[in-house]
Amino acid sequence: MMRISTTIFLFFISFLCGAQTVIVADAMFDSKTATLKSQPRIVIEESKISTITFGGAIPDGTLVDLSGHTIMPGFIDMHTHLTSSHTEHGYRRLASSTARSALRGVKHARQTVLAGVTSVRNLGASGFTDVALRDAINDGDFIGPRMFVSGPSLGITGGHCDNNLLSYDFKAISEGVADGPWEAAKAVRRNIKYGADVIKICATGGVLSKGTKVGVQQYSLIEMQRIVEEAHRRDLTVAAHAHGTQGIYEAIKAGVDSIEHASFIDEQGIKLAKEKGTYLSMDIYVTEFILNEGKAAGILEESLAKERKTGSLQRDNFRKAVQSGVNMVMGTDSGVYPHGHNLKQLSRMVKFGMTPAIAIQTATYNGAKLLRKEDQIGQLRPGAYADIVAVQGNPLSDISLLENIDFVMKNGEVLKQNGKVL
Ligand code: ARG
Repeated sequence: MMRISTTIFLFFISFLCGAQTVIVADAMFDSKTATLKSQPRIVIEESKISTITFGGAIPDGTLVDLSGHTIMPGFIDMHTHLTSSHTEHGYRRLASSTARSALRGVKHARQTVLAGVTSVRNLGASGFTDVALRDAINDGDFIGPRMFVSGPSLGITGGHCDNNLLSYDFKAISEGVADGPWEAAKAVRRNIKYGADVIKICATGGVLSKGTKVGVQQYSLIEMQRIVEEAHRRDLTVAAHAHGTQGIYEAIKAGVDSIEHASFIDEQGIKLAKEKGTYLSMDIYVTEFILNEGKAAGILEESLAKERKTGSLQRDNFRKAVQSGVNMVMGTDSGVYPHGHNLKQLSRMVKFGMTPAIAIQTATYNGAKLLRKEDQIGQLRPGAYADIVAVQGNPLSDISLLENIDFVMKNGEVLKQNGKVL
């Protein structure tokens, strides 16, 4: 009797071991402490990490041998537009229907996850195409990153989040336009109703919108306060597009959770962000695409002129922000530039003041904290999703290695190995 039960027990154990995957590598980046640890052995059961040990015996299970590699948590891009294409700017954008944009998102989602970005916060999509994309990926219809989505961005009439390309005759108004505190609060409720995970607002003018002044505030303090109150009550965070100094200041004062772009942030803005715990998401790579390739992609001349006054200042202010120790995440505005190039921003983050370790921590753990999901993503720890990426060599000595991630696992499933898509 004893023997039979032992046999059954052993059978059960080997069955369990068979169901688990073991990754071994030379080093693992611990995103919480921003340090490397040697000889990791990560055991994965289904979609999650069950144990992590360092050195010693290799646990039983299907072995994924990443010798020579450094493994890291999957990256998190906190500002993407998966349903937008870098080939369609300015008036060209008017030619795509909502459905066409959604279908394009399928391709972009694939490019993004295969580049090692296993989670994104998608900030602004018309027709709730981002909700559809998120749900289809979660249902396993096709591969893509975990998506945390906003639906249409909220903004004032004629502001950066409105469509100002057409004359009055067309009566074109973007879906996210909401003026006044109550209308804005109602738009928050509407976005939540249709599936938003986060609220995106336009606090100031922008570069790529027609007729807006990039440094000038748009939503008033009282409107933003109402939006934040409504979103926070419903347990959602608020991301504010804000380039201009005063708009940044008032958005932080209103209680938004992140400032997107933050181009003209000054010392007072940085100080207030530190006091309030607000995150800065500064897209310092995209300026290169806009200035070098934007014209051919249809970006308006007035936008190119605005970018010339914005990009370099934003980079100087990025350096100041890094030095100040304010909370920062990696947001890139992908969709303005080609999807899948997201991690090019890391080398710029290093060039403008971060150590490679802090840049990787910013693009993993910090993003997860702003998403309030740091137990599940952005960290390799027991209980977290097995979203794991790897490169050969040590990215702390050469950050540009991360522009060619050769191993991607999401949710315990290997999507790419030795640079080959599975
Ligand atoms: N979507 C942003 C806007 O139109 C892009 C800004 C890009 N420029 C930059 N320097 N980050 O305002």
